Amino acid sequence: MLAQISKNIFLYASQSKALNKAAKKWGLRFGASQVVAGETIESAIAKVKELNEKGLVCTLDHLGEFVASREEAIEATEYNVRTLEAIHKAGVNSNLSVKLTQLGLDIDWHFCLDNMKRIMETAKRCNNFVRIDMEDSAHCQATLDILHELRKTYDNVGTVIQAYLYRAEQDVKDLKGVSLRLVKGAYKEPPEVAYQDKQEVDANYMNIIQQHLLSGSYTAIASHDHNIIAKVKQFAKENNIPRDQFEFQMLYGFRTDMQQQLAAEGYKMRVYIPFGNDWFGYFMRRLAERPQNVAFALKGFFGK
Ligand code: FDA
Repeated sequence: MLAQISKNIFLYASQSKALNKAAKKWGLRFGASQVVAGETIESAIAKVKELNEKGLVCTLDHLGEFVASREEAIEATEYNVRTLEAIHKAGVNSNLSVKLTQLGLDIDWHFCLDNMKRIMETAKRCNNFVRIDMEDSAHCQATLDILHELRKTYDNVGTVIQAYLYRAEQDVKDLKGVSLRLVKGAYKEPPEVAYQDKQEVDANYMNIIQQHLLSGSYTAIASHDHNIIAKVKQFAKENNIPRDQFEFQMLYGFRTDMQQQLAAEGYKMRVYIPFGNDWFGYFMRRLAERPQNVAFALKGFFGK
């Protein structure tokens, strides 16, 4: 009961435009620096290098979402372009993750598509891959429509499917052959569109993972859940799924021992590294997912 209340408070805060705007001026606070790799491209690239040396690959996410002006969306597009160029120049092993509401999805669909095309051209030139994160369900179809449009020209782009959505199974079926990151889902969604019960979400999660792996499609299993990871390993073994057809993904700062262990076992392990000054919404969603995260946030709060 208490956990549900705190979850709702954090999810509510994550969507507050006023708090998100204010936090940009605060700098990384409340322990956020433990899960956000600094505010600049340089700090993020340094972190990628460090993790690469430990046998982990990465994906960089320049934080930002729900952008309301064209200027901000264009600025964010250019920042993503510069991030891809910086990855290329540094010769580090990282791809890029983007959120479409940062690139103008709420302003105009075609404008957002054009911004994505600019990023994809750079990714193509730099021989890299771009993953479109999935946001709340209100943006799901528009996101998939942009993916389909991009895939007419580019094959180095994929997206994310959230197991809590009833539509997930059909979406995974429709996206056979596309590189997908599969997750449980991080937003507050109503019962009209999403499973509310954790066990149902977990069951559907395993269902879509198995479905995508069996279709021969590249699958990124993004979860900190040791039970899910153990089941995926077992399933891959029993069904002769080659190691180069899937990877595990976890967020920067979470379960680092397990990340290292999976890499040592020979699995591809990718760390999702967020960076930048628009950290508040991301940080609040992490607090919502796991009440234990509150402990280090409080430590960060009082430590400042
Ligand atoms: P979950 O939170 O369900 O935990 C299950 C169990 O695992 C816990 O009960 C506990 O035992 C253990 N556990 C979990 N975290 C732990 C920790 N830190 N330490 C110790 N034990 C722990 N969502 C989205 O909607 N769109 C997106 O694009 C993405 N992208 C994304 C990328 C990556 C790389 C990751 C890892 C996640 C996302 N997500 C996401 C978030 C995702 O949807 C989900 O909200 C979180 O990963 C939380 O679910 P988990 O599967 O990690 O475990």
